[in-house]
Amino acid sequence: MKQLIKPIALAAMLAAAGGVQAQTVLKIGYATTAASHYGVGSTVFCEEMEKGTQGRYKCQQFPNSALGGEREMIEAVQLGTQDIVNTSTGPLGNFVPEVKIVDIPFLFRDYDHARKVMDGPIGQDLQKKMEAKGLINLAWTENGFRHMTNSKRPINQATDASGLKMRTMENKVHMDGYKTFGILPTPMAFPELFTALQQGTVDGQENPIPVILASKFSQVQKHLSLTGHVYSPAALILSPAVWNKLSAADKAAFTDAAKKGAAAQRKKVNDDENNGIAQLKSEGMQVIEKVDGESFRKAVAPAYAAFAKEFGADKIAAIQAVK
Ligand code: PAF
Repeated sequence: MKQLIKPIALAAMLAAAGGVQAQTVLKIGYATTAASHYGVGSTVFCEEMEKGTQGRYKCQQFPNSALGGEREMIEAVQLGTQDIVNTSTGPLGNFVPEVKIVDIPFLFRDYDHARKVMDGPIGQDLQKKMEAKGLINLAWTENGFRHMTNSKRPINQATDASGLKMRTMENKVHMDGYKTFGILPTPMAFPELFTALQQGTVDGQENPIPVILASKFSQVQKHLSLTGHVYSPAALILSPAVWNKLSAADKAAFTDAAKKGAAAQRKKVNDDENNGIAQLKSEGMQVIEKVDGESFRKAVAPAYAAFAKEFGADKIAAIQAVK
């Protein structure tokens, strides 16, 4: 009996020790609501990461830009004052200039093309460039193809957009591209946008359907045009301050969880694209579904010479060539 009690007591002691094992809580921030594509992707990542590390790591989520705009959050992750950000590439080029190539308008044909590029050698090469700048990109998540909304008029073709004052991300590639459509780009951090639209400081904005839905832009914008003028990738970025402390097994658990989070985020983008237009119509938006895309492509074509000079014509062609 004495012999039996000993191992049982030891097991109990180990279980108790397991119960009080050190748990690290990581702060993750993103711009939109907990129910949005960013929230869905982040939640799956957090759950899987907690499971994969047997509960030694867990997340505290900060949706709705509670930790600041995307630019501020990327900076905080680089500094190690925030642990994780799920962010679009919009402001990322200010930290890792090579990433700006993916923000070129009309570079990607469709979701299949964009996801193949981001998950393939080109996307992996950009992840390495990010790591060299102190940003560990665990996986490319997704924001989606961007569409224009405004309070003034329906946009059927590029000339309809001309003269509209539109909020853009703080992204020079976007701004240079959009100027060719004749719009007046007004860079602004996302947390300021709803009020700017409400007060008429800007006429419009451009964002993917999941953002338009989650941010309730139907309350302040009458017209939506499915321009799909640029793909907006996103990234789940971890601070090197956390990454460098992880064991090889925990690094694998984080990376695997990020892949699952990215898949869930992309699925939510698909679902919102499929169901969101009807919802936005029911909320009163007038939607132009058949936009003259060719008029936008023609307008932006001359800007490609400058993009080729900045990023290399071969690099742009390599992205376009991915089938
Ligand atoms: O428009 C933006 O700034 C971005 O698309 C957003 C909404 C912050 C999501 O990444």
